[in-house]
Amino acid sequence: MSQDSIAAANVAGASSSATGRGLWSSRWMFFLAATGSAVGLGNIWKFPYITGENGGGAFVLVYLACILVIGIPLLMTEVMIGRRGRANPEGAIATLAKRAGASRHWRKLGTMAVLTGFLILSFYSVVAGWALAYAPAAAMGSFAGLDGESSGALFGAMLGDPWKLIGYGTLVLLLTLGIVGLGVREGLERSLRFMMPGLFVLLLVLVGYATTTGHFGEAVHFLFAADFSKLSAQSVLVALGHAFFTLSLASGAMMVYGSYLPAGTSIARTSLMVALADTGVALLAGLAIFPLVFANGLEPGAGPGLIFVTLPIAFGQMPFGQLVGGLFFIMLAIAALTSAISLSEPTIAWLSEKFAIGRLKAVLLSGITLWLLSLGTVLSFNLWSEFTLFGKTFFDSLDYLTTNLMMPLGGLGTVLFTGWALSRTTVQEALGINHPQLFKLWWLVLRWLTPLGILVVFLHTLGLFG
Ligand code: TRP
Repeated sequence: MSQDSIAAANVAGASSSATGRGLWSSRWMFFLAATGSAVGLGNIWKFPYITGENGGGAFVLVYLACILVIGIPLLMTEVMIGRRGRANPEGAIATLAKRAGASRHWRKLGTMAVLTGFLILSFYSVVAGWALAYAPAAAMGSFAGLDGESSGALFGAMLGDPWKLIGYGTLVLLLTLGIVGLGVREGLERSLRFMMPGLFVLLLVLVGYATTTGHFGEAVHFLFAADFSKLSAQSVLVALGHAFFTLSLASGAMMVYGSYLPAGTSIARTSLMVALADTGVALLAGLAIFPLVFANGLEPGAGPGLIFVTLPIAFGQMPFGQLVGGLFFIMLAIAALTSAISLSEPTIAWLSEKFAIGRLKAVLLSGITLWLLSLGTVLSFNLWSEFTLFGKTFFDSLDYLTTNLMMPLGGLGTVLFTGWALSRTTVQEALGINHPQLFKLWWLVLRWLTPLGILVVFLHTLGLFG
């Protein structure tokens, strides 16, 4: 045991007491933080529009299956690695690999996860800025009388204004890093304690409003009546990819949150609750959005513009539209902020533990680099929109690189590490699944089904399946 802790201290670059690692004050706080990470633009912006594009109910069913087979096993695995290793993703994997007598190279999975989170945050902060910009616009009545064309023009005008995008993106980064800089208890916990309940209350209010539109039943039917004729092979792959994104997997977020999880908490049960909450929010977001879309005779399959172009038209027409629209974008901004926090924490933990620098220094260092990198995303919507790499703008390239390449690869590596490099007893002990048959099933899924599922998505994104 003492050898282990020396090894842990060595690979992490410094002893954990020197870097003042935090711990969540309770299992409940971990649940709030992990749910805050999972619930974000993915649930409120992406899930409704990909469901719309892929025909509704049948797609939802496939998505739920993907959460079950890939999402939940990987989520449990990541939280477990974090808690066993009690360090940033690289340090934690290094410790576990060393204990298991596995290759030292596994730790690179952790380094890649940290980098993935860092890169995602550089553009996630810009998109989160759109929500911050739209909240006051909605509340002040800027959407009154919008039609399809003028709404598209309004969105286009925002994207065309680099100063506006820089301003709001910077605000998101300042808020995120300000909170993260205060540490696990003082920063993360204190802010999550009011942001998460606020988010749920807003969501329920919006669903409540949606029931008054007279088109709620239509939305329920759209989301839950499975018509498999509308499902293509492509839809299945979209569902798989989204399962990754929505649970914040393969980016260090869940590992680092797991590393602050008190001992004795059942990882299996808590992860299941997080996945349930995340899925619940996505479905509720659908129930808040689609009734408005149908009530105003708009198109559910409008794609990425569903939230920023289609919904404002609805807000501009309906009773109490200013209030409801304002609340909607505030909710979106909160959801994005709690995710942004989780995207920055792996980098902060990694920098401060690996290079033994103070947390504040780590925040400043990553803040400056993140800000500079985010300028690339901002400019790709306007001044640099013509400048492309392999036919993609800077933003599209970063999105593609992280979501389609680094995340599947990192996720695959992580399940292989756990399923094939660690011993069965270690994993069983760490997870806290006491029922032997249940664990047997989980182990089988983790070693075979999950990696195969990820491999299929990955090969598809590389274009090998056409
Ligand atoms: N899960 C968040 C969402 O649904 C986004 C997110 C947070 C994320 N952390 C992540 C996505 C890490 C990928 C990787 O919006």
